[in-house]
Amino acid sequence: MVSAVLPLHIAVIMDGNGRWALSLGKKRTYGHYIGSKVVDDITKESVNLKIKYLTLYAFSTENWKRPKTEIKFLISLLHTQITKKENLFKENNVRFNVIGDISVFPQRTRDMLENTIEKTKNNKALTLTLALNYGSKLEITAACKKIAHDTESGRLQACDISENTIEKYLFTKDMPDVDLLIRTGGEKRISNFLLWQSSYAELIFFDKYWPEFTKEDLRDAVHEFQHRKRRFGGL
Ligand code: FPP
Repeated sequence: MVSAVLPLHIAVIMDGNGRWALSLGKKRTYGHYIGSKVVDDITKESVNLKIKYLTLYAFSTENWKRPKTEIKFLISLLHTQITKKENLFKENNVRFNVIGDISVFPQRTRDMLENTIEKTKNNKALTLTLALNYGSKLEITAACKKIAHDTESGRLQACDISENTIEKYLFTKDMPDVDLLIRTGGEKRISNFLLWQSSYAELIFFDKYWPEFTKEDLRDAVHEFQHRKRRFGGL
């Protein structure tokens, strides 16, 4: 049986910015800049395809290991690009959202993120979520701590803890599970991204680097998803 159902939630590991730029004899940061432009095309195409949730891995908890100059560039790119994307969000009815521990970012970046979240909160076509200082292990550890705290204080009974309870303590508490996980850049791993939420996701890998990813590639991935048989552990 072929399912023509659309993925409700697509998550993307946007890998290969640095290698793409170096292959052109440019600095790695140029790859991040072009990568941030590709986000516009993929956001618009997701709206076009009637995808409801698009989650992009923009900065992982492991990315702090990079040279300080690259980290600084990524944070400053985030600032300028999200500010610039406000029109895109308005014109395409996109709600902006963030998952991850953003407390580590500069105050003006946090203010900008919260401001954009607030301004776009009533937009309905697509929820675009950026994973920033995000890691699944961080997320699950934080959820365990909060659950332990609420159990100690009597707000929660240990015997009542279910999968549903855990989901309510994750950064993604208001979001559906991932249906389709795309990774560009040729590596075939999940890199600490949405481990709980991708338990039954279909995985599609592209050899091309993120700055080369096009709306046609997104359409191809959705098409392939629609031809996969999803059994969720059943027969
Ligand atoms: C992975 O490529 C990419 C990142 C760590 C950053 C992703 C960020 C962007 C695409 C910019 C997003 C910005 C906004 C505002 C949405 P890599 O550097 O690890 O590439 P490599 O594997 O070739 O080194």
